[in-house]
Amino acid sequence: MTETKSYKIAWLPGDGIGPEVTREALRVLDAVASAHDFAFTAEEHPMGGAALDETGVPFPDDTRAACRESDAVLLGAVGGPKWDDTTGDQRPESGLLALRKALGVYANLRPVRVPEALASASPLRPDRVGGTDLLFVRELTGGIYFGTPEGRTDDGARSTMVYTEAEIERIAHVAFQRAQRRDGHVTSVDKANVLEVSKLWREVVTRVGEEHYPDVTLRHLYVDNAAMQVVRDPQQFDVVLTGNLFGDILSDLAAALPGSLGLLPSASVGGTVGLFEPVHGSAPDIAGADTANPIGTLLSAALLLDELGEPGAADAVRHGVDATLNAGFRTADLAADDEDAASTSTFGHEVATRAAEHAQKNTSASLP
Ligand code: IPM
Ligand code: MN
Repeated sequence: MTETKSYKIAWLPGDGIGPEVTREALRVLDAVASAHDFAFTAEEHPMGGAALDETGVPFPDDTRAACRESDAVLLGAVGGPKWDDTTGDQRPESGLLALRKALGVYANLRPVRVPEALASASPLRPDRVGGTDLLFVRELTGGIYFGTPEGRTDDGARSTMVYTEAEIERIAHVAFQRAQRRDGHVTSVDKANVLEVSKLWREVVTRVGEEHYPDVTLRHLYVDNAAMQVVRDPQQFDVVLTGNLFGDILSDLAAALPGSLGLLPSASVGGTVGLFEPVHGSAPDIAGADTANPIGTLLSAALLLDELGEPGAADAVRHGVDATLNAGFRTADLAADDEDAASTSTFGHEVATRAAEHAQKNTSASLP
């Protein structure tokens, strides 16, 4: 008998809708665990504005230590109007940046798929967005988010976009390797017609591609053109490689394709421990109302399972989400005016039931 594996998940609910959407993700993880022969513990730790209120800082040392000792970090969202007057290190958002830096997770993976059931609800033409399946590989621990010098000057302020060759190389490798496992195309996004740092980005990405990945096609787009192309014809993309700032902007833009920011998951990897969080923010206006869309977080939990080496359980979660949408359940952000909206917890419960059924069906076949 082999012992059941047990994973330690650091659970950082954070602010706004963070607690309610991550709670549903834990429910769904729980629903697929036993069929896939693993167990997990989820220990809650303060983060963001909640941590600021509780401890005086947005990313407490205890939270940092717990994240480092975990197998994976599941995060809700941080920030809100209550902390809008905070500055510098006291901002909930700086806590998030410090967390990413502390874990060394330089590669932010943001897949964008338009589920068939939702293509007709897209603000764009269904024939254009249906079948969209692209992956943003966004550099996450460098660029203008972290460059120095930074701050106020006598007569203004400055932020600096800095990339070393090594930082560009390692994120380029991630993008090319992901493309090898997908359709074999990388689109690298930059502003090489203006920015020196983008000229280097383009050179290094080209070199990495030529030297190591002759089987992957590479093209370059300026970021302004990329924004237009993502909306005009999203099906042309496979892997989209970007720096930190351009990836932040383009991934929110791409969220318009399936029609709600609430649908998109993310995984931040490349360090010792992976960080999994929905792309959306804390949505303070609907916090605690049990109306938020948990899909982005549920799909982040699927990415977490992939990263832990539990692809079967990850598929069960994704199946649960698709099957719940196909059964007609819609949270308020997706429901048509004449449709009843499912609450966050109802939606999570429906996904958990379907994911568990799928998990049992697909594992019982392999029992002796
Ligand atoms: C995101 C968010 C963060 C970012 C903020 C909250 C710091 O917008 O994860 O996309 O800009 O990276
Ligand atoms: Mn963002």
